[in-house]
Amino acid sequence: MAGNRSLHAANKAKEDEFYTELSDIENELKHYRHHFKGKTVLCNCDDPRISNFFHYFSYNFEQLGLKKLITTCYKNQNRDLFSQNDSERAIWLEYYGDKNGNRVPDPEEIGIHYFEGDGDFRSKECIELLKQTDIVVTNPPFSLFREYVAQLMKYEKKFVILGNQNAITYKEIFSFIQNDQLWLGSTLSFAKFKVPDYYEPKATRFWIDESGQKWRSMGNICWFTNLDIAKRHEDLILYKSYNPDDYPKYENYDAIEIKKVTEIPMDYNGIMGVPITFLDKYNPEQFEIVKFRKGNDDKDLSVNGKCPYFRILIRRRQRAGDVVETFHETSLQVGQSLHYEQPETALPMAAEEEAEYGK
Ligand SMILES: C[S@@+](CC[C@H](N)C(=O)[O-])C[C@H]1O[C@@H](n2cnc3c(N)ncnc32)[C@H](O)[C@@H]1O
Repeated sequence: MAGNRSLHAANKAKEDEFYTELSDIENELKHYRHHFKGKTVLCNCDDPRISNFFHYFSYNFEQLGLKKLITTCYKNQNRDLFSQNDSERAIWLEYYGDKNGNRVPDPEEIGIHYFEGDGDFRSKECIELLKQTDIVVTNPPFSLFREYVAQLMKYEKKFVILGNQNAITYKEIFSFIQNDQLWLGSTLSFAKFKVPDYYEPKATRFWIDESGQKWRSMGNICWFTNLDIAKRHEDLILYKSYNPDDYPKYENYDAIEIKKVTEIPMDYNGIMGVPITFLDKYNPEQFEIVKFRKGNDDKDLSVNGKCPYFRILIRRRQRAGDVVETFHETSLQVGQSLHYEQPETALPMAAEEEAEYGK
């Protein structure tokens, strides 16, 4: 059993090699430029010799006004595109910007250091680098996403990281979202990644280009951050009106079911269950997250005998000048205090949680 588990973990780790395109990094990070001035940035799952995160920050070092860039790689010291993870010692790089005026990070301007260990982001020496850092930016291994985020939270770091939308459904991650400690970034739902040669071909979302390079694409990629971005302050424009036929109530919670985020009614002030894609439009000044997924009986929300996929229970925030509707028995007047359910506290790391929630 233990053998099976470690084999499973090893297989999952092998599936962690997805290399982020420079254009995807540029498209997201242009929304954060003002955050980087005078800051130390760490890319801690990145072979500095091939990572586009290292490329982005080293080539934009002066424009962003960075103080320092640290990049660490995991195990591998070879210059191959894809880490074979076969060397127990790894390197890390530090860069303080251009010295000779050519605005290019030359090799002699980059400090190369050897780790004692393998460069695991959880190791003591990597944590020492994390402590010196203001903002962490990378695409971490998806198989370790919970642990990765938990570590960033523990050391109270700012971050912009790429991940899979499935992570939203992890209890720990959702808890951070609900508590306003983490939100979705600006761009992306689809992304393509170079993958190593040993990756098995797939029937869909897989191709080999003319140079023989293997690629995979995913339609459910998103950025997770705790840095403020403009999108987080933009209201979702609502145009539908509530009626009880189009918006049935759940059997196990006093809230209405909304099938599409664009169909959130503009005149309903009770609790509403929305798909997780809502988070891409979430402005905490417009809506409040009340609860995730479960009804009062602690089972998945159900409507007409069916459980729609992962609903988030939300409520519109009352703002001065809002008309307070009368459809809902618990409607409140503007200014009256609201008693929402307390958010669930973060649960301890559960290695098998993914299996419980499915992918
Ligand atoms: C999804 S890939 C992304 C690589 C790179 N950040 C990029 O975006 O192009 C995740 C990387 O994390 C590395 N990795 C896996 N486990 C790690 C660990 N425990 N500590 C640090 N890096 C790890 C993998 O080798 C892999 O290269």
